[in-house]
Amino acid sequence: MCGIVGYIGNKDAYPILIKGLKRLEYRGYDSAGVALINENQDLNVYKTKGKVSDLENFVVQKDISGNIGIAHTRWATHGEPCSENAHPHYSSSENLALIHNGIIENYASLKEKLQEKGYSFKSSTDTEVLVQLIEYIKISNNLDLLSAVQLALGEVIGAYAIAVLEKNHPDEIIAARKSSPLVVGIGQDEFFLASDATPIVEYTDKVVYLEDEEIALIRRHKDLKIVNLNNVEMLHQVKSVKLNLGQLEKGGYPHFMLKEIVEQPGCIHDCMRGRINIEGSNVVLSAVIDYKEKLLNAKRFIIVACGTSWHAGLIGKHLIESFCRIPVEVEYASEFRYRDPVINSDDVIIAISQSGETADTLAAIELAKSKGAFIYGICNAVGSSIPRATHTGSYIHVGPEIGVASTKAFTGQVTVLTMLALTLAKEKGTITQNDFLSIVKELNMIPEKMKKVLELNSKIAELSKIFTYAHNFIYLGRGYSYPVALEGALKLKEISYIHAEGYPAAEMKHGPIALIDAEMPVVVIATHNGLYEKVLSNIQEIKARKGKVIALVTEGDTYISNIADYCIELPETIECLDPLITTVPLQLLAYHIAVCKGMDVDQPRNLAKSVTVE
Ligand code: F6R
Repeated sequence: MCGIVGYIGNKDAYPILIKGLKRLEYRGYDSAGVALINENQDLNVYKTKGKVSDLENFVVQKDISGNIGIAHTRWATHGEPCSENAHPHYSSSENLALIHNGIIENYASLKEKLQEKGYSFKSSTDTEVLVQLIEYIKISNNLDLLSAVQLALGEVIGAYAIAVLEKNHPDEIIAARKSSPLVVGIGQDEFFLASDATPIVEYTDKVVYLEDEEIALIRRHKDLKIVNLNNVEMLHQVKSVKLNLGQLEKGGYPHFMLKEIVEQPGCIHDCMRGRINIEGSNVVLSAVIDYKEKLLNAKRFIIVACGTSWHAGLIGKHLIESFCRIPVEVEYASEFRYRDPVINSDDVIIAISQSGETADTLAAIELAKSKGAFIYGICNAVGSSIPRATHTGSYIHVGPEIGVASTKAFTGQVTVLTMLALTLAKEKGTITQNDFLSIVKELNMIPEKMKKVLELNSKIAELSKIFTYAHNFIYLGRGYSYPVALEGALKLKEISYIHAEGYPAAEMKHGPIALIDAEMPVVVIATHNGLYEKVLSNIQEIKARKGKVIALVTEGDTYISNIADYCIELPETIECLDPLITTVPLQLLAYHIAVCKGMDVDQPRNLAKSVTVE
């Protein structure tokens, strides 16, 4: 949800800002803009609808000099995507320029107040209201920028990560955050600012994560200073971040999504490294051992998450309930936070999030914490807000995920949930040693089996060509495969814009079967497991209505291949690990259908990777 970048130092700011915006473009790509102060102390703002590449075209022949600047890539909240609504926003006098990620909830009343004072507005954004408010407070009280920002933020209700430049102050950026992420990078006589560390790691590994209601004074040739809204200086910790730059590039693949699908065997290997022993006979998640008492005494687990992470949560419920015999509820974080849910101090909340920044998941955590629950996070982005808000947790360690459609994060989350359930079950004594050993052994073999699935890439690409005509798709699965059906449908709809629904296969006859005709592709997850015979009957029901069945089956299954229209044969694994295998062909199917339809796979319309607004 909007990406923010800033630079102050001795280098030209523009190329650093543009490169940074490209790294953050996954956060939104409705419009982009930059503000720079040149050596004559002109504050130049350039912005345009579209992507960062459109901004690059827009600034050709313009003055982009200056070694201080801020830049923004937008995911529209208030106001349609157009150049007027793009950031940075000037104040009326054009002395201030501001970029913002988040939502100012009381912007309408603030705007009314400013209009009464004679202020007019060029855009329909909440952000322009904030920059005008800062200017109004600054001028009417004759204050410096920092004091005006402090007072203005005191009047704001909502979420923000902001950066402000002042025309006659080419040596200072003021940045602040509340509920939207912001990281300051500390270089050699230079500073960087960004929504996450990816634009910074190329220049320095020293970063400071701002906390809520903290304001950073980022000044040339001075140390970083952080204060709160009451001007009390706040201690800050400089952390070291390590990111492999190769992980931030496409590495020869046409899209990040394909790269991230193909990376999965290595990612799952990384996710298990140091957690499953070399012999493949034991699994230990250190966080579970460290907080054994809390977790073993939990009366209930509540998993909170959104989107794909919520689908991983559904698989987590299945795993934890069957291995550990502890009841698990899976909640959409956005519903949970507003439902006045029953939360007890012996509940353990598992918050799952790739980005670690999803606003609803973060709010659900805060709510549960306020009721005394213990919070366990499962995240990918190291140092992001959710891991910092939880009591403990496990990173999935799959590397930066840049394609907007989540792929490797899902399989990483399911892998961590499997290891969590196994570690707990062993500690609790609710799993036999034989079952434990056979699952750990099989889990260890998943990366090799995933590689075999990836060999089907060109076959799936061919199959995809047949389905570009479709306007609807149905995905069916049972047991562990039901969340996979949901995930397969989500992948298809978000990148190909084909309407797709996932259902538990047996639910078909309670309504959705009315949709089946000769035009309807139905993807059925029909691998060899306990519910195989039942799913077989579901396939017969679809074929009886002339639906087109694409079945995911276990290698060597000749029975279904005689009934289904198309079959994708997958290596056999044990039932509880099936999602790690069956998800991969569904990711490939969605990817290739979207590519055949000429869609922008990595940046599908209306979406953003990191949903920092509710
Ligand atoms: C779908 C997708 C989204 C995210 C959801 C939660 O491909 O990526 O549904 O899963 O926005 O995001 P995180 O996991 O970052 O909390």
